[in-house]
Parts: sequence; structure tokens; C-alpha cells
Amino acid sequence: MNSTKHIDGKLHATGKARFVRDIPKQEGMLYVYPVLSSIAKGEIIEIDFSDAINIENFVATLTYKDIPGQNDIGVMEKGEPVFPEKMIEYYGQPVCAVICRDYYSAIVCAKRVKVKYKEEKAILNLKEAIKHNTFFKPELMIKKGNVIKGFKNSDHIIEGEVHTPIQEHFYMEPQTCRVIPDENGFTVFPASQSPTEIQEILAAVLNMPINLVTVDIKRVGGGFGGKEHSPTLFAAICAIASHKTKKSVELRLLREDDIMATGKRHFIKATYRCGFTKDGKIKALEYNISANGGAYADLSIPVLERCVLNAENCYNIENFKLKAKAYKTNLHPFTAFRGFGGPQGTFFAEYIVERIAKKLKKDPFEVRLVNLYKNGDTTPYGQKIEECYLEHVFNKIKPTYLKWKKEVENFNKKNKYKKQGIGISPIKFGISFTTKGLNRGYALVILYPDGTVSVSHGGVEMGQEVSTRVASIVSLILGIEIEKIHIESVNTKRIANLPPTAASTAVDLNGNAALKASSILAKRLKRIAKMIFKERFSIDAATIELKNNKAIAGNYSIEIKEIINRGIWDREKMAEYQFYKTPHITGFNKETGTGKPFYYYVHGIAISLVETDMLTGGFRILKTKIIHELGRSLNREIEEGQISGAFIQGAGWLTMEEMVYSKGKPLSTSPSTYKIPTIADIPEEFDIEIFESHSKKASVFGTKGIGEPPFLYGHSVFFAIKNSIEEFTGKECNLMPPATPENILKAIEGEKE
Ligand code: MTE
Ligand code: HPA
Ligand code: MOS
Repeated sequence: MNSTKHIDGKLHATGKARFVRDIPKQEGMLYVYPVLSSIAKGEIIEIDFSDAINIENFVATLTYKDIPGQNDIGVMEKGEPVFPEKMIEYYGQPVCAVICRDYYSAIVCAKRVKVKYKEEKAILNLKEAIKHNTFFKPELMIKKGNVIKGFKNSDHIIEGEVHTPIQEHFYMEPQTCRVIPDENGFTVFPASQSPTEIQEILAAVLNMPINLVTVDIKRVGGGFGGKEHSPTLFAAICAIASHKTKKSVELRLLREDDIMATGKRHFIKATYRCGFTKDGKIKALEYNISANGGAYADLSIPVLERCVLNAENCYNIENFKLKAKAYKTNLHPFTAFRGFGGPQGTFFAEYIVERIAKKLKKDPFEVRLVNLYKNGDTTPYGQKIEECYLEHVFNKIKPTYLKWKKEVENFNKKNKYKKQGIGISPIKFGISFTTKGLNRGYALVILYPDGTVSVSHGGVEMGQEVSTRVASIVSLILGIEIEKIHIESVNTKRIANLPPTAASTAVDLNGNAALKASSILAKRLKRIAKMIFKERFSIDAATIELKNNKAIAGNYSIEIKEIINRGIWDREKMAEYQFYKTPHITGFNKETGTGKPFYYYVHGIAISLVETDMLTGGFRILKTKIIHELGRSLNREIEEGQISGAFIQGAGWLTMEEMVYSKGKPLSTSPSTYKIPTIADIPEEFDIEIFESHSKKASVFGTKGIGEPPFLYGHSVFFAIKNSIEEFTGKECNLMPPATPENILKAIEGEKE
């Protein structure tokens, strides 16, 4: 099953991979650059282009008046303009744009545009927004059992507030788009995870039928959710510019402007009340969750939905009650980011479990075990827990945990200002879009007479190697080596009506469609092969195997390319277009707070050992061990790549990344002011174990989605730091993420945030 080929990775490493800006330039191609607002909220009084248009390569200006169709790019909810007609809602919002003959002129020109505003009081943080009570509808709720009764049956009750920070995606390729006009419409080359969204919204913005807009995406230079909805705005600006000038146009944001103007991971806060017994068993948990949704709805409601669906994480809680709202503020919109609200919800649960352990002076490992889900339990939203491997992974990691615990005890006895701590992070992450209708995949497989194969499918390549994974499925079924299989760009004229490539579902959905298409073709090839075997060797081949580019029957074989040739000339169909939809899911009913949104869960556990310097607030991750459950492994290298990458991205979020704003203006807009993890931050000892559960409820070839769940393993680093501080101070500390040196020192001194 294990193929070690990385189709896309090899192209990345050798510089051969083409991104949007590498597409050869069209003759007379122009560049559009947006003018970004310099206030967080207010009215546009006047736009003065007089200084800007004096620039040598200036071509045209672009305002909302140039939009022939709807001035709205909202996807889950309407009301998100391309260019605001009157009101600015966040710092960095595109107000208008300029078009020039070269890229740098366009940037200079845009920066010279003077916009006069009537500034208004902006809502710049969640606290103010809650006071204001302006939120995106609907409010979400989940209820199970009776919390009042649960609190009565508790020996202890803890209450408090916990939050998770904002996170910038820091993908390698900033927002980029190229639009090329043609006879009737145009082709868009965006760096987007959502080809269909771009096709449909650009058609509406340009007042054009959808079938005249083609979207083509070869690959995205990193997305992490930051290219699920954010690129649509920039693609729209690029398309309007092309429509106005009738020329090919490119838009490419500078890194600083990209960070300034685009969505990020939601800041989410939870107030909680948790009752438990003296053994640590949780009897009742009540949450009030509030998310900073930013200026427009964007994907805030589905993100909040996944947050609430994860707010109990791995624990069976009899009595549970939750309310959640996403508030409107005057910051850039908040959007999808790896885990999609899941990391926030699970962090709250883990934070509470850690507190229970402190309160009872029990081992946090044991407190987790006492509360762990078992088969037959039900989640607060009513989905039954089946094929649960939590206990298994806990038992598997326990010897390592106990060994490390001893080491830490020894170290801490001997050292005064350096302390070590261990953090634990178990996961139970549901796979499927919680919006049921999005769970669909598509594939088109074409066989050519030289024995090569073309595969188009609905998954956008963004570094997660969906291309390799789908190609290896097709290769296994057709018996054709992977080198002969070409994964095409996602093109909305070949594959249409797609969900975004998101929610870790691309292989489940499109891989299954590719499996169906290849299986039909394999059956057809075998039928034709049987005929050839009979004619040529006078044998009646009972079983035929497709392998190594051949059809094999006992000692006889024929080349697959010969079979394809024969098929074509016998007028057989040598291509298949197939569809797949995830079975057995109901989505999440927001009105009742119930449903069976997930086809299956992915399980696992991470433990991390850190050493914190109590004088400087610096820390190092000495060791991390992860045991990750996957139904079956399809390509171990890619899986390990996803696990290690997601882990370190998750650790970065809670420990070192920090978005700083001044009056709504993002200040951390470059690698020098926004610190993401580097190779130096990888645990010194890093052990990833993949546990193949052979779970029945898994996806194609028994695999499970791998893109997002391991992000949650990063929590273990935060809790390890928190525990190391508590080793030093001897009491519970109030450390909140991000665990920057500044926040660590504050927590040591016991200061309130
Ligand atoms: N891996 C890389 N290298 N680059 C990315 O942008 N995005 C992540 C994850 N892994 C991402 C990545 C996110 S947010 C998701 S939802 C999944 O990949 C999407 O791809 P999949 O469905 O194929 O797992
Ligand atoms: N995950 C990612 N993106 C989404 C989802 C989801 O559950 N729902 C809508 N867009
Ligand atoms: Mo991933 S956040 O679902 O793009």
C-alpha cells in the first residue's frame, strides 16, 4: 500500500512547480493593486486619484462603479462587498484599486491614492463587541442531560474564562490571481481552495452566466484555510479590472498587505462552569462561547459550529450545556484555518481537565482516563461514539509518559530556575463538512493509447499531496505505474460544482470518486484483455490481474496500452466521470443542536516535554511523542509530513505567534514581527507512530482524513509550559496562550492578564 512518491513535493523542491505568477505573461498584460483603507471604521468621503494617475505606467482606476453585477462576494452569508460603496469596516479593507502596466508601478500608484474618511468609533475587540451585542446569526446551542442536577452531584465546581489567540496563516504564496479574457468570458487562475466559489461569485459580480467563467487551479502555495474564502475578493478585483480593460490582468499582494487585509483564525473566548467528583469525573459542564468574527460573516458560523462540536473533545459528559455567538467587530474578517474552530473548542476542554487535575492534585493523565469516551457513549449533540480508539492510544503511550514523568521529577529536583513539564493532548476529530451538502467528490479518469492516464478531480493541491494520494489510488486499481498518471489542474470545465478543498476531506471525497472511475475502467480493460488472451493465446483467462502496466493471466501477459488501443478502436469508452457522496451523515441541525455530522472520528494522543527558563520566559521542546490513529496508512511519508507540520503549526499558534494591533491596524505583518516556528523549534526528540486501526468506518482504502486533526497535538506544548511554571511556583498559574516569554514571565509572577 505504501508508495513513497511525492508528485508535487519533487516539483516544489526542484523549483519546477508553477504557481499563478509563473504562468507565462500574456501580451499587454496589466497589473491591478488594491488601495487598502487606513482606518478601521468610517465613511468614505472622497477618493483622490490625482497624484496617483501621474505615474508613468498608469492605465485605469477601479471603484465599485465599475462592477457590472452584484457588489457582494459573501458565500455563507451575503453582505460582503468587493469595494464598499460607503462604509469602511476594517483596517486594510480594499477601498478601490488602480491598474498599471507593470507590477511595481501598480503598487506605488495604489499607495499614492488619497482617501478622505469620516472616521467613526470602531469595535476593535471581542469585549466591546459583546457589550454592543452585534453578532452574526444564528446563535448556536447544544444541550444534553441536566446541568443543574449535574452540579448538585458534584464534589467540586470550578469556573473561569479561557481564550485562544488569533493566528495568521503565513502561507508561502501571498494572495495572487490572473484573469485572461477570451471570446465570450474569461479564465481565472486564482490561488484558491474553492474553484466553484470563485466561478459562481465572479459570474455574479460580472453579471455573466456561470458557464462563461472558467476557473483553473494547478496548485496553491499553501492554504491552511486562508485560501478557502479570502481569495474570492482578490479574484473579483482582478476580474473587474480585466473586464474594464479587456486585457489579461494579474493581482499579487505584497506580504505586508496580505497579512494586513486577509482573514485569520478566530479569537474565541469561553466562560465555563464545570462540576466534578473527587475522583475527577466530570458531572456537568456549561459553556458560554464568544468568537471575534471580524467585519463580515465570512465562514464564522461554520467555524463556530465546529468549535462547539469539539468543546467536549474526548470526554463523555453526561450533563452539558453550551451557547455560542460570533460577534461582529471592525477587524479583518476571521476565516477558515486548519482545524476550523476545532482547535479552539478542544483547547477549552483540555484547559478545564488540566484545572481539575490541579485542583484534585491528581495526574492529568489519570483525570483524562476517568472521563474518556467509550464505544456506545453519545456526544452532547447526539452522535453515537463507535470504533473509538482513545483508550487504546492512552494505554499505548502510558509507559513513555511514566518514564518521562520520572525524568522530569528528577530534573526539577536538581534545577531551580529551569523547570520541565509534560503536556498531554488527546484528539477525537470528526471528519466531514458539518454542512452536509458539501460532502461530495468528483473524478474524471481518461486512458490514452500510449498507456498513460489523465486524472482530473475536485481536490486542490496546496502542499498536502492530494495529487499523489489520488494518483496512487488510480495506479493501484489500474495497475499502471504512478509515473504514467498525470494529475491535472482543477478546472471547472472538467470538474464542476465543487465544495472547497477543506475539512480534511479531499482524499475521502475525490479519492473515492477516482476509485469508482478507475474500478469501472479496470473492469472494462479486463473484459477486453480476456478477448485478446483468447484470440492470441487461445486461453480462457478466468482471472486477470492488472499490474506493472500489464494485464496478466497465469504465464501470459499483454501491455495495458494495447488493451486501451483495442478498446478505442472497438468503440469502447476509455474514460469515466464519477461522483461520490459521504454516506450516513445528517449534518448539524442548528435549531435543535443535534445531528450526526461526522462520518467517522480520527483519534490520537500527543505528549510533549518542555524545559522552561523561569528567568527569561524562554522554552525548548525537548521531546514529543505522537500516536496517531489512521484506519490504514496509504503513504506514510505524506502522513508523517502532515502530522509533523500540523503539530508544529499548532504549537506555534499557542506559544509564539502573536498578532498585535493598534487601533485595528495589524502591526505584525512580516516575518520579523510575526514569529512562526522554524526548524529550530522542532522537538529535539520527535517520535510519530501511526496506529492502523483497520476501522470499518473509514474512507478510501480504509484511510482517514489527515490534514487537520494533528494540529490539535500542538496543545500538548502549551500545557507542558503551563505545568513547568507550576512546578516552579508551586501553585496553579493563569497562563493563557500565546505562551510568549512576556506572558510566561507574567504567569510566573502571578499577574493577571
Ligand atoms: N498541508 C500543506 N502542506 N499545505 C496546506 O495548505 N492545508 C491543511 C491540510 N494540510 C494544508 C496542508 C488544511 S486546512 C486542510 S483542510 C487540508 O490540508 C486539506 O487537504 P486534504 O483534504 O487533502 O487533507
Ligand atoms: N470545514 C472547512 N470548511 C468548511 C466547513 C468545514 O466544516 N464547512 C464549510 N466550509
Ligand atoms: Mo482547512 S481550514 O478546512 O482549509
